[in-house]
Amino acid sequence: MKSIQPYVQTFVLLRQCMNDAIQIENIPVEGTFPEGGLISVWTLNRPDKLNSLNSDSHKALKEACDLAEYNDSIRVIIITGAPPNPPLEGKKPKPYSFAAGADISEFVGKNSDDVRPFFEDNAWERVWNLSKPTIAMIDGFALGGGTELALSCDIRIASNRSKFGTPEINLGLIPGGGGTQRLCRLIGYGKALEMVLTGDMIDSELALSCGLINSVTTPEELKETTMKLAENIAKKSPYTTKVAKRAVRASLDLPFSEGVRMERSEFVALFDTEDKEIGVNAFLNRESPKWLGK
Ligand code: COA
Repeated sequence: MKSIQPYVQTFVLLRQCMNDAIQIENIPVEGTFPEGGLISVWTLNRPDKLNSLNSDSHKALKEACDLAEYNDSIRVIIITGAPPNPPLEGKKPKPYSFAAGADISEFVGKNSDDVRPFFEDNAWERVWNLSKPTIAMIDGFALGGGTELALSCDIRIASNRSKFGTPEINLGLIPGGGGTQRLCRLIGYGKALEMVLTGDMIDSELALSCGLINSVTTPEELKETTMKLAENIAKKSPYTTKVAKRAVRASLDLPFSEGVRMERSEFVALFDTEDKEIGVNAFLNRESPKWLGK
C-alpha cells in the first residue's frame, strides 16, 4: 500500500464547525472511483475538558453527520479526540482522551423533562445511523459517552494507552447513549453488565480480548494504521460498502433466518448494479476496478 503521508500532509480543512466543538478535515484518497473520494476526520476539540461531549459537541456532530451523509465524496468517517494542549506553567499536563464522557457539568440540577429532548435526538444515534463506514480512532480515555461514541462507530482502533469504561453508575446514572445495548451486543451480557455495574475502566489489551475494539497500536502508529484501514475501505465501491454495512447491521435486529433472507435479497439486487459488472470484469482482466458507485 502507498504511503498515506502525502494525504496526511494535504489535510484540507473544508469546514470548521461553527462552535469549534469539533474540527472536520477531509482528506483526499488517490485511486478512488468515482474519483475524488475523501476520508472525513472529525476531531472532538475540547482537550482541556478531555473532549467530554457537551451540547455544542452534540450539535456539531449531528451537523457533521448531515453534511457527510449527503456528500457523495465522503467515503469513510473517522472520529477522534484532540490531543492535550501544552500545560500552563506549574500545572500538570492533561491526559490524552478520545472523550471522557458527557460533560458532567451540564447534568447539574436537571430533571427528566430537561434532558429528555436532548437524549431523544442525540449524536450517538446520528453517528450510528450513518450509512457510510465509520471508524473511532481512540488515543486515551474513552469513558461513558466517549465509549458510547466509539460504540456508535463501526470499527474501533485504539492506542495501547487507552482506557474504556462506563462510569455513569458512579454518578447515580446508567449509560444513556445506547451504551447498554451496543456494549452487550459487542462484548456479551456478562462483561457488559460487569462494566456497567462497576464503572471500572479496562485497558486496551482487555478491550481487545473481549471484542470491544478491533485492534491496538502504539500511539505513534495509531493515525497511520487507522488511515490505511480507512483508505482501503474508501477505495471500494461506495454503493457496495453501504449495502455491506446495511446487511451486517441488520443481524443486530433481525432473527437469524430473516437476516439470511435479507442478505440474499441485498446480494441478488447487487447483480443489477454497474459496479458488480465492473468488479467482476476487473478481476477477470487483472485490472483495478474503476467503480461508478451505482
Ligand atoms: N465532564 C466534564 N468535565 C470533565 C469530564 C467530564 N466527563 N471529564 C474530565 N473533565 C474535566 C475535569 O473537570 C478537568 O477540568 P479542570 O481542569 O477545568 O478542572 C479536566 O477535564 C481534566 O480532568 P481531570 O479529572 O483533572 O483529569 P485526571 O487525569 O485527574 O482524570 C479522568 C481523568 C478521565 C479519570 C477523570 O477526568 C474522570 O473521571 N472524568 C469523568 C469520567 C466520567 O465519569 N464520564 C462519564 C460521564 S457521564
